[in-house]
Amino acid sequence: LALAAATLILVLLASLHEPTRQRVISTAASLWPVGKVDERARMDARYKEMLAGVVMDPHRPPDRWSEYLVPGEQYLVTNFFGGQTNQLFHKLYALYAARELGAVALLPSFVAIHFPGHTHRSIDAMYDMPRFYNLTGVRAFPLHRISRDGIQKTTTLEPLRLPCWTFTAYTKPDATWLPPPAASLNEYGIQLDYSWPDTEAVSTPSGQPVVLDDVLAFLSNRTRQASWIEQNRFRRLPHNRQHTSPAFDPANIPPLTLDNPVQCVDALFYVRSGWSRMWEQIGQHLHFVGTVQQAAEDYLRILFEVPEGQDVPPYISVHIRGTDFRTVHGSIPSTSFVNKVAEVRQLLAKRLADVESNMTRASAPRKTLLTAPENYPVVFTTDE
Ligand SMILES: *[C@@H]1O[C@H](CO)[C@@H](O)[C@H](O)[C@H]1NC(C)=O
Ligand SMILES: *[C@@H]1O[C@H](CO)[C@@H](O)[C@H](O)[C@H]1NC(C)=O
Ligand SMILES: *[C@@H]1O[C@H](CO)[C@@H](O)[C@H](O)[C@H]1NC(C)=O
Repeated sequence: LALAAATLILVLLASLHEPTRQRVISTAASLWPVGKVDERARMDARYKEMLAGVVMDPHRPPDRWSEYLVPGEQYLVTNFFGGQTNQLFHKLYALYAARELGAVALLPSFVAIHFPGHTHRSIDAMYDMPRFYNLTGVRAFPLHRISRDGIQKTTTLEPLRLPCWTFTAYTKPDATWLPPPAASLNEYGIQLDYSWPDTEAVSTPSGQPVVLDDVLAFLSNRTRQASWIEQNRFRRLPHNRQHTSPAFDPANIPPLTLDNPVQCVDALFYVRSGWSRMWEQIGQHLHFVGTVQQAAEDYLRILFEVPEGQDVPPYISVHIRGTDFRTVHGSIPSTSFVNKVAEVRQLLAKRLADVESNMTRASAPRKTLLTAPENYPVVFTTDE
């Protein structure tokens, strides 16, 4: 199930680089310039060292989850929901929140819920996490590293039971599918007890998108969380019979210990604020791994009929969902796409004009850089 505004974001893949080709090699992690292989190796080594430093790797299967945790460290677990794009949005905001809280982000794998078999893909199979770590310093631990090496690791494990703050159920109190299923994290040995955030901690009324800073302020105040849970242990969530199943029953939530190093927040794609901050700090630094980038390039080469060895032209990528272009609830009409694409063309034209005016000022040799943005083709992607 995909969600409205998040998918309206247009991803600009149009490249503003000059078309001089740098020879690149394809490593497991990334397409990387030949002259920088050593730097790449150092980056990978630093990433491995970071991973080893934030989550312990016991030699035998541990009895309890806490054996994985490093004393004194803070962690943020996030649940997920929806298709790949929604899951990505959610991870991006989770990484931003972890950065702001100084916590280690514990990231579940992507799950292809719209496809049979529910294929799992860990974040480091899709994105270049050593490079992301190098660029941002944000510590993110892919949870599959705990579950993958042996089911027995988590089956004998006493689960980590966490209260999980649901901002999505706050945002969409009448939705029957929210919060995301607590069972999604079971395979990592994590069990969630959902709770609703203190309504006074959310500046927008129930049913509205939550402001990112409200989420961060609530997550960073443990006293507030603990007292809110105590107040509500025997009170069910307001206005929503759908959410009173045992999976979402505050009466069952164990008391929150203030020194609990692991916090949980559910899918953050309803945040819909702080987008540019988040993109600047997190989004733009998440690059595809070499295999994904190569697959995309091969595909685009066929789409644009570009021979091997020549550059794929700049283009604008638009993400759509199965229900878009129709007149059903939640669908985005085609006129919105047309308007947004026009806006993006203008932004790109402005950016290009800035680059060219700088080059003129620097009296750099003038080149015809690119196709004009009004002529960029549009490529549609979908995950449904
Ligand atoms: C990123 O790489 C640069 C250059 O190798 C290095 O100086 C810097 O410390 C790295 N940052 C992190 C967080 O690894
Ligand atoms: C944390 O929450 C408590 C209780 O709601 C409040 O009194 C306190 O001022 C908050 N602390 C901070 C640092 O915001
Ligand atoms: C143009 O130059 C200014 C000042 O040197 C700089 O701040 C700006 O980022 C440059 N813009 C582009 C698009 O390169």
